[in-house]
Amino acid sequence: MTVDTATGTAPRTVAVVLAGGVGARLGADRPKQLLEVGGRPILAHAIAAFDGHPGVAEVLVVMAAGHLREAAALAAPFRKVTGVIEGGDTRTASTAAALTALADRPDDTRVLFHDAARPFVDRGVIDRTLAALADHDAVAVGVPSSDTIVAVRDGLVADMPPRSTLVRFQTPQGFRLGTVRKAYELALADPGLVATDDCGVVHRYLPDVPIRVVEGSEHNLKVTHPLDIALAEHIAEHIAARV
Ligand code: CTP
Ligand code: MG
Repeated sequence: MTVDTATGTAPRTVAVVLAGGVGARLGADRPKQLLEVGGRPILAHAIAAFDGHPGVAEVLVVMAAGHLREAAALAAPFRKVTGVIEGGDTRTASTAAALTALADRPDDTRVLFHDAARPFVDRGVIDRTLAALADHDAVAVGVPSSDTIVAVRDGLVADMPPRSTLVRFQTPQGFRLGTVRKAYELALADPGLVATDDCGVVHRYLPDVPIRVVEGSEHNLKVTHPLDIALAEHIAEHIAARV
């Protein structure tokens, strides 16, 4: 870990748990991150993973408008949560809201953006992300793809990259705050902005910044479709049986 020569302290790590979505594909009567799996709301699992990690100093929760009070109640037992703020209409806007909330933090702060919809991010995944952030400005978590992935345009295969070179991205994605802040400044000024995740924004707007990829976990499912609730219950049982 780099040590700040002025203060002699290691940079502070803030985890941002992104829960600003409505869960349209899941189709429940409330945002999917408020549904319970393994006896606890999905959002609480995600907060707990970072709150309990010794390398994380602080957790910021970004919640969908209209559900701030529920999120605040759910976050209350966690001692590292320093804020529950309102997100935006897109994931990018929710990340931007978090960056605004962190506007007064030094550039060398480490920030981890995590999908609240991934309840089972484990200690090892967070460890690997933080370790890689010691010498990279941007870090992604990925798992190999067991399916072949192709690019399709107009119903025809346009590109078939070798499967061995492909990984599926998960979260957290970790950054030096100054780097992700700069990338978002450029992105938000671009009327043609299209982005699905924070590494996508860094890759597009700061293409010279290397993005280190570390190993994720098959447990680190993003609850997206109705079937994923059953799968998440199964993973919760599997994890409970292990400890
Ligand atoms: N997210 C967010 N703000 C948004 C949209 C998404 O913070 N405006 C968060 C979600 O809450 C989720 C993560 O980004 O934890 C990944 O997004 P996704 O799985 O797409 O969740 P939703 O957008 O809620 O689901 P859907 O796309 O099916 O509506
Ligand atoms: Mg979405």
